[in-house]
Amino acid sequence: MGNRELENINIGMIRPHLRDIPDLPLPDGYSMRLYRKGEGPLWTEIVRRAEPFLEIDDDRFDKEFGAHLDKLPDRCHFLLDPGGRAVGTTTAWFLDDYAGDGETYGLIHWVAIRPESQGRGLCKPMLTIVLTRLAHEYDKAALNTSSGRIPALKCYLDLGFVPYMSRERAVEGWSQVRSVLKHPVLEAMPELGA
Ligand SMILES: CC(C)(COP(=O)(O)OP(=O)(O)OC[C@H]1O[C@@H](n2cnc3c(N)ncnc32)[C@H](O)[C@@H]1OP(=O)(O)O)[C@@H](O)C(=O)NCCC(=O)NCCS
Repeated sequence: MGNRELENINIGMIRPHLRDIPDLPLPDGYSMRLYRKGEGPLWTEIVRRAEPFLEIDDDRFDKEFGAHLDKLPDRCHFLLDPGGRAVGTTTAWFLDDYAGDGETYGLIHWVAIRPESQGRGLCKPMLTIVLTRLAHEYDKAALNTSSGRIPALKCYLDLGFVPYMSRERAVEGWSQVRSVLKHPVLEAMPELGA
């Protein structure tokens, strides 16, 4: 984050279509598998270990997914390391009316990789698997994130997500991202400042 303490501002992103998902294989030995009934505690443990900003309490999983537990075995993914240990997770979720257009968006929901497995280029391959799942059902995708999550934002931008600017504090949040992350998508947005 550089030498300034920056605020972590909530921001959103949209992928206006779900075509052209790149083919990015996981490194040798890594794989993805779907959630099995009762794996809420595993999800909680991974997300808690990874999460830099939020307190992840024991009932977070139920708050997020409890109303639709039956949907998880088809949508919640775990990333496995070469030893078969679950080191990451993300979920192909959904949200009605993300952008006030009355449409249902595929939602990339809760992306996390254990700290000891970060920085190995696992995130984008993991996300392409979930984007492909979303493409089976939705025409576009969205996600909620925050301005301090630079590795995640780099991956989302590289995978075709663009800033959703019709949101409170969007210019402020994305200007902050642009001040620390040089990315062509942000460079092409003069409204974010120098
Ligand atoms: C988000 C998360 C899953 C990404 O996993 P990761 O292992 O850190 O990411 P990867 O190493 O696969 O990819 C990160 C990318 O960001 C880049 N990056 C990382 N830090 C960066 C920085 N300070 N400036 C510019 N780019 C940076 C990396 O170079 C890489 O891009 P590249 O593959 O094109 O070189 C992980 O960091 C995590 O769990 N974070 C905590 C939870 C979180 O914030 N989740 C997102 C919720 S919206």
